[in-house]
Amino acid sequence: MSTIAITGASGFVGTALREHLRCLGHDVRRFVRSGAGAKDAIAWDPSSGRIDLDAARGLDAVVHLAGENVAAGRWTKARKQAIRDSRGPATEKLCRSLAQLERPPVLVSASATGIYGDRGDELLDERSEAGQGFLADVAQEWERATKPLAERGARVCHLRIGMVLGKDGGALKKMLPPFRLGLGGPIGNGAQWTSWVALSDLCAAIAFLLANESARGPYLCVSPKPVTNRDFTKALGRAVHRPALLPVPAFALRLMFGEMADAVLLSSQRAMPRRLLEAGFRFLHEDVDDALRAALAPQRAR
Ligand SMILES: NC(=O)c1ccc[n+]([C@@H]2O[C@H](COP(=O)([O-])OP(=O)(O)OC[C@H]3O[C@@H](n4cnc5c(N)ncnc54)[C@H](OP(=O)(O)O)[C@@H]3O)[C@@H](O)[C@H]2O)c1
Repeated sequence: MSTIAITGASGFVGTALREHLRCLGHDVRRFVRSGAGAKDAIAWDPSSGRIDLDAARGLDAVVHLAGENVAAGRWTKARKQAIRDSRGPATEKLCRSLAQLERPPVLVSASATGIYGDRGDELLDERSEAGQGFLADVAQEWERATKPLAERGARVCHLRIGMVLGKDGGALKKMLPPFRLGLGGPIGNGAQWTSWVALSDLCAAIAFLLANESARGPYLCVSPKPVTNRDFTKALGRAVHRPALLPVPAFALRLMFGEMADAVLLSSQRAMPRRLLEAGFRFLHEDVDDALRAALAPQRAR
């Protein structure tokens, strides 16, 4: 059993990961921005980087997922600043604090496939160069920001996460209402590639990297079978037994969401999880139809 603390623990991925790691028998703690006092909580202020060092003593690992939501709506100047500040700068300050611990913990830190920018049909893996644009810049800063901890000799992994599929959050939760009404359809011309991962596979990949002493550096957390947006749309239509034929034109998305439309909704990344596969990790849900079926299956009572 290890003692593992999570930042962004109340989020879509953090909530599922807490449960996953607990089921594996770990002692799971939460970094909290407010409301410290609970037995499992460690106080953390992302803007100063200050953490409760007493409470953090003895941590074996930290999974760093925190960050201002990227796809929550139009990018105002203030939201872009918050997206940026809550990633690179907040991560660097957190790592400086963690580096003060006598035994610095292993760090598994979120990043995103957005690091590659908009790459059309190009096949991408961890050896591919980073791309251009706001999200690519933010993700590069985010990965570089772990340096203070790496320099103390801690093992650091970066999760280049694709679109996470789970019905309680992320993109799928937003897409489901229109698709269930038969109002779904491809975004733009639908040719852009979506690199996606089932939430349960992402949690398993994080646990795998935590346990694998030789793992360090970037890991694409995406299924080995990326799909175009057109094929994703068809699969989601099949999963909810509705037609999904109504395209959402790119100009309408740009009107509604401005810059975020091109950077998130219309951007193309066709990524392969080369390093996870080489390390022996096996995805439970490689096919998008299978992943959507599993994500949307009624949950069994525990
Ligand atoms: N979901 C995806 O499809 C996806 C894809 C690629 C990358 N990622 C990355 O993976 C990480 C987890 O994703 P998620 O879907 O779980 O995100 P999420 O649901 O938006 O949760 C992120 C959590 O971060 C904390 N947070 C929010 N705003 C913050 C701020 N301004 N400063 C510091 N912390 C803040 C909150 O947790 P607390 O209130 O508990 O602190 C929040 O619940 C994120 O960094 C995200 O960018 C996600």
